Amino acid sequence: MRRKLAAGNWKMNGNAADLSELQALSHMHAAPAVDILICPPATLIHRAKEKVLGGNIQIGGQDCHAANSGAHTGDISAQMLADAGASAVILGHSERREDHGEQNEDVRAKSIAAMNGGLKAIICVGESLEQREAANTLDIIGGQMSGSIPDQATGENLIVAYEPIWAIGTGKVPTLDEIGQVHDFIRARLERRFGEGVGRSVRLLYGGSVKPSNAAEIFAVSNVDGALVGGASLKADDFSGIIQALE
Ligand code: G3P
Repeated sequence: MRRKLAAGNWKMNGNAADLSELQALSHMHAAPAVDILICPPATLIHRAKEKVLGGNIQIGGQDCHAANSGAHTGDISAQMLADAGASAVILGHSERREDHGEQNEDVRAKSIAAMNGGLKAIICVGESLEQREAANTLDIIGGQMSGSIPDQATGENLIVAYEPIWAIGTGKVPTLDEIGQVHDFIRARLERRFGEGVGRSVRLLYGGSVKPSNAAEIFAVSNVDGALVGGASLKADDFSGIIQALE
């Protein structure tokens, strides 16, 4: 069975003082029935890891470079993330694709580096509003999956996050049927490409305006194994509500 996962993406938010939220969360969920992952900004990964030592919260990064080291000013490698205490990394988030022009092949190369470095790659896919309105959602998701997910993916090193761009930080959420349709499609695609064993073991997260009040109904949708949460992961109380809905 796939273990449920509540993942928080702090994006470019958080200073050292905000790690008190992480500590509070760690105390609230000392023995969680689901996996919990927080991806703070890179500056906080090491300190975040220290805060949760002995607890059950994993720490992750929000991006990595495709190379292990070298002349890449401002970048961070998967090995460095692992060295700082990360066990996973978010890759191909729509904000990276938009702000930094990341293409599917970039995401694939980064994912290979992450997997080779022992990190779980949380590969994000999702359509824009225009693409949804033009009924292109599944084509877009299928293309992002084949372009971004490397061949070495397994149920252990890959997590796929479906994040409709128009639902991120907007308070808008697709209908439960729409979420189910995309998650079933992602599952079927994974099974077709990697075989049933691997395809069924990869966890699929939904992301986009998840909050404590809508989490339970989203988690009841088929093939939703958890959430990738932005805004509502910043405060321990909010994220705890989402974790409880998953447990
Ligand atoms: O990666 C999570 C994210 O993009 C969703 O953000 O703030 O809508 O939960 P938010």
